[in-house]
Amino acid sequence: MRIAMIGTGYVGLVSGTCFADFGHAVTCVDNDPAKIAKLQHGDIPIFEPGLGELVDNNRRAGRLSFTTDLTDAVREADAVFIAVGTPSRRGDGHADLTFVHQAAREIAAAIDGYTVVVTKSTVPVGTGDEVERIMREIRPDAAISVVSNPEFLREGAAITDFKRPDRIVIGTDEPRAQAVMAEIYRPLYLNQAPIVFTGRRTAELIKYAANAFLATKITFINEIADLCESVGANVQEVARGIGLDNRIGGKFLHAGPGYGGSCFPKDTLALLRTAEESDISLSIISAVVEANERRKRAMADKVITACGGTVAGKTIALLGLTFKPNTDDMRDAPSLTIVPALQEAGATVRAFDPTQSPDILRLLPGVKLSDDPYDCMSGADTLVILTEWDAFRALDLDRIKTALARPVVVDLRNIYRPQEMRQRGFTYVSVGRP
Ligand code: UDX
Repeated sequence: MRIAMIGTGYVGLVSGTCFADFGHAVTCVDNDPAKIAKLQHGDIPIFEPGLGELVDNNRRAGRLSFTTDLTDAVREADAVFIAVGTPSRRGDGHADLTFVHQAAREIAAAIDGYTVVVTKSTVPVGTGDEVERIMREIRPDAAISVVSNPEFLREGAAITDFKRPDRIVIGTDEPRAQAVMAEIYRPLYLNQAPIVFTGRRTAELIKYAANAFLATKITFINEIADLCESVGANVQEVARGIGLDNRIGGKFLHAGPGYGGSCFPKDTLALLRTAEESDISLSIISAVVEANERRKRAMADKVITACGGTVAGKTIALLGLTFKPNTDDMRDAPSLTIVPALQEAGATVRAFDPTQSPDILRLLPGVKLSDDPYDCMSGADTLVILTEWDAFRALDLDRIKTALARPVVVDLRNIYRPQEMRQRGFTYVSVGRP
């Protein structure tokens, strides 16, 4: 199959590269010439384990190329994937579809022969209809099918998620388009990954419902963690105890500082807006969004309490600032709420992040960044673990104790064992554990 992937952001780049790895001829298109020039030289703009190597292999094999020329790429293609950004619109939380609509117009003008146009970006229910309307307005004669094929990729594990998906969702009622999509995903189909063929609107909603459900699961266990702290129970054991029930499942039950990232916060808000437009009250999701916001603020209070009720004049060392490990993504990271709250309360905040993301200093002014975790905590009054990088689990606890001015550790990801920390003489505060 010949595929054009419009947008070389996170989803477009990972999906395009994996499709090339399946053996398809993929052209990735972006309107940012600097980005395309970099990609043409094998320079990967995002941090994703394994992606650089996969891009290189497929470029060398001649299956993957990068261009700013949308017209050429689309004209040749059997399928065109729209994987452009859909940020939250400022003010109202709606998904901003400007880039999707723009892509639809440009694709319509370039199409030659029967083409399947696929929305891969996370788009509100009904967007497929709108994309089709826009395209037919420009090219009433064009032979097109507009399909929804949402992605479920986790940052940091995106390549595995793409190649070993729990399921593939394909939203179209047209048999001809279903056949093209089945051919595109044939390697996974042969691997017995379940393919859910469904209507376009249903496919669009599946994506939002999945993310909202996962956000709910996290928020649920976070509230249970609070209860554990006050009744002397252990949230990790509660999570295991309930997760072994197949109806519940053990994943996404790690209590922490609240969910962040490019999807859950944005998608839950967008789903609420969609529901409002239909006069439907999604009270559970609405409560999840509020609880998660409260939680991020409560984490700063937790640090302050661990510091004896005040952080004024104290130095706090933070390990990990991105919203989770194995990514350099700062979007909606809990650190963006926790750090300013600590600074406002009078703390000096130092931090170490393994990615050394250039975004950090811009987003968190006043934070002193270290390039070594032990330097970061040297002389600090408290150490806070904010993301669960494996490298932090492997730190030398004796060295941490020597480096800190006071042996206080607030572990918001439960990466250390309470008993061991106590035995080593730390004042140790974690999430939902006695
Ligand atoms: C998510 C979805 O998993 C993916 O299917 C979707 O397409 C995009 O959004 P991602 O945002 O990359 O992926 O990260 P994920 O691993 O799902 O974590 C999201 C947030 O939830 C992170 O802030 C993470 O720390 C938090 N989380 C996750 C928890 O606090 N506890 C958990 O048990 C799991």
